[in-house]
Amino acid sequence: MKILVTGGLGYIGSHVSVLLLEKGVDVIILDNLDNARIEVLDRIEAITGKRPIFEQVDLKDQNLVKALFATYPDLDGCIHFAAHKAVGESLKQPLRYYENNIGGLIHILKPLTRQGIPLIFSSSCTVYGQAQELPITEETPLKPSSSPYGFTKQMGEQIIQDSCIANPNFRAILLRYFNPVGAHPTAQIGEYPQGIPQNLVPFLTQTVIGKRPILKVFGSDYDTPDGTCIRDYIHVMDLAQAHIESLNHLISSSQSPSCEIFNVGTGTGASVLELIQAFEDATGEKVPYTLSAPRAGDTVVAFADVTKIERKLGWKAQYTLHEALKSAWDWEKQIDKNP
Ligand code: UD1
Repeated sequence: MKILVTGGLGYIGSHVSVLLLEKGVDVIILDNLDNARIEVLDRIEAITGKRPIFEQVDLKDQNLVKALFATYPDLDGCIHFAAHKAVGESLKQPLRYYENNIGGLIHILKPLTRQGIPLIFSSSCTVYGQAQELPITEETPLKPSSSPYGFTKQMGEQIIQDSCIANPNFRAILLRYFNPVGAHPTAQIGEYPQGIPQNLVPFLTQTVIGKRPILKVFGSDYDTPDGTCIRDYIHVMDLAQAHIESLNHLISSSQSPSCEIFNVGTGTGASVLELIQAFEDATGEKVPYTLSAPRAGDTVVAFADVTKIERKLGWKAQYTLHEALKSAWDWEKQIDKNP
């Protein structure tokens, strides 16, 4: 089997590439190195003993995308991660987000739909906004996004759904990730934020290692048991495995609907304070933190109903929050040694 992984040197893409290679799949990684490091290729090889094919291609360049699909005419599937993903940045540079996330998607959809190559799309629970009812199912109504980044996920889903309707031989799975955290158990690959991390776990690990003075807990007066926001944190290894099950499903069951949506979470929420406590329990380290003002635009509570993915794909999260946080800490210590 030959699979194209766009954004395959990024955080989630690199973990998925490792699992694919371990299953004996031929992996072609496409990445423009905009927010990823070429060293990740060596790390993937060190973990798996196999070096994926690497193509440095920017999906915004339609001609390069065409040439890529001409070079690999026998692809069995595509997993599409390549996208910008910072909410705050997207508010400042909306056109950059729309051009890259929507333009890039359209450029790969043209050959994929023409050739009937199945697609897995990385979407986000951000499409739900603050849901009225919890846990969030795939039927929970979507809310207009509060950022261009979020809109690119909603539009991306719509564009793929429309493409499935228009092309009966084209099939896709849209995975709505909840909050991915943690790193590969070898600590060779993980999340490598550029600049000041915006997400909780990389900010926390950088604080504990001494790169940041203190972690600010954004909001402590919300209507939750301890006043802090609640999220569904999922180990990146579990999330990666969900892509493998999705691919198996797409390739083996041609009877299923041409475009299916799945939440990927653990089904359990943790508050920011619970996460800090879990980190301290898992690592024995103390987290310096302070209660601070809410972050504008934050969703208060989000956690997934994972019944559908369990039932249809037979996938269920295996790792605990403690294991995820321990792996995030091992990864942070490793980055500190090999920046
Ligand atoms: C964020 C994005 C979301 C995106 C997801 C990808 C925002 C507003 N949302 O989700 O669109 O799909 O990342 O991973 O950026 N927190 C702190 N202190 C910090 C950082 C975060 O208390 O320094 C809190 C937040 O208020 C939130 C929780 O930690 O309650 C998780 O935050 P974060 O990791 O940024 O994820 P999301 O906001 O859920």
